[in-house]
Amino acid sequence: MSETAKLILDGQTYELPIVEGTEKEKAIDISKLRATTGYITLDSGYKNTGATVSKITFLDGEKGILHYRGYPIEQLAEKASFLEVAYLLIYGDLPNKEQMEFFENSITHHTLVHEDLRRIFEAFPTGAHPMGVLSAMLASLSTYYPEAQNPNRSVEAIDLTMHRLIAKIPTLAAQAYKSSLGQPTIYPQNSLGYTENFLNMMFAMPTYEYEVDPVVADAMNKLLILHADHEQNCSTSTVRIVGSSQANLYSSISAGVAALWGPLHGGANQAVIEMLEMIKADGGNIDRWIERAKDKNDSFRLMGFGHRVYKNFDPRAKIIKKSCDDVLNKLGISDPVLEIAKKLEEHALKDPYFVDRQLYPNVDFYSGIIYRAIGIPTEMFTVMFAIGRLPGWIAQWKEMIERGEPIGRPRQIYNGPVNREYKPLDQR
Ligand code: SDX
Repeated sequence: MSETAKLILDGQTYELPIVEGTEKEKAIDISKLRATTGYITLDSGYKNTGATVSKITFLDGEKGILHYRGYPIEQLAEKASFLEVAYLLIYGDLPNKEQMEFFENSITHHTLVHEDLRRIFEAFPTGAHPMGVLSAMLASLSTYYPEAQNPNRSVEAIDLTMHRLIAKIPTLAAQAYKSSLGQPTIYPQNSLGYTENFLNMMFAMPTYEYEVDPVVADAMNKLLILHADHEQNCSTSTVRIVGSSQANLYSSISAGVAALWGPLHGGANQAVIEMLEMIKADGGNIDRWIERAKDKNDSFRLMGFGHRVYKNFDPRAKIIKKSCDDVLNKLGISDPVLEIAKKLEEHALKDPYFVDRQLYPNVDFYSGIIYRAIGIPTEMFTVMFAIGRLPGWIAQWKEMIERGEPIGRPRQIYNGPVNREYKPLDQR
């Protein structure tokens, strides 16, 4: 492999360093390009641009590979707990028994949120989308813990903020759901595990106990692990760039939730179910919708299909698809939209339009079907994605801070009007 890339500009040859990662990915380091050549690069949507060097997650889009800190996603989804994976992403290794006990205990004892936050919940209109509520509540947390704004905070203070966020996001999410229904808040229980606690806060009532079905808890644990990190995706890049200004972690995560909400990103899991329901209401006519997705003049896209990086099957979609049948069978549910999803996938994967563009089902294509089966309402699907992605966002923010990366500030090429003279109003 060559050590440098040669660039010939205006008759001059420049040598740019080559960077190679531990999984043999290669990059041309252009960090000194403008200073040496006066040129910048242009790359709309950063499709060819690496923002950083990271030790957290590795994706191979061509081979459909996803590793967290070197562990294959298939092993972690099958064998680990979500909090184990959260620890792995944030601290770099799987925890030993003592580390796991400390981490779990810290999370368990920070699940409550300040009672004053209830007044903010009450201010939202009925039917407020829970992603808007969650983003606002996470940013509000920064006002209750102003010490998190201190850029020179200690390692212990950073740990406390990270643990507070992981502990409180299920509480805030469940409270957003309960207040949208006008139902009383159910408080976290220290006797329950992470996913069980969330399910209890979502579905228990003061008037009756909620029995957590182990099948449901296991499915949720797996879904949270599958969503936990995905290298420099849109919302993670948002968290990194907001955090690079030394804004506090609560506000950086709040910005990540806002970015995830978009239907092209994490909001796709809600959009997939709405699309499948639309196709079902239309009599299940798959072909008509596939033709619409291919029509450039039609804004309809096959939600849950395609990916910026995966040009093969999204490994998470494979695992979730398998779990779909498993969870629905165990719960004795037959969901007609699952059959529509499978037919849609089958038709699309034979259609040259999708094959030529390497468009496969992504993580969002099947996840909504499982969320629905375990009783999560559609508008909460992207909130589930945010709960899962939180440890990844935190790990990426922590890596950026520890590496002392500079404030993110891309350049541009200006192509607007030049040399204009101001004219008074009566002369225009
Ligand atoms: C997530 O980045 C991550 O890692 C994200 C994520 C994570 O874990 O963080 O994996 C989570 O966001 C998954 C993606 C969820 N979004 C959707 O399912 C929405 C539907 N998908 C598309 O909008 C699209 O595929 C994107 C946004 C996911 C990717 O878009 P790109 O990389 O910018 O690709 P593109 O839009 O340039 O598409 C290339 C071609 C285009 O056609 P041509 O102009 O070449 O003729 O493929 C077409 C697109 O029109 N295309 C689709 C399509 N997706 C792409 N056509 C129909 N239906 C689709 N779903």
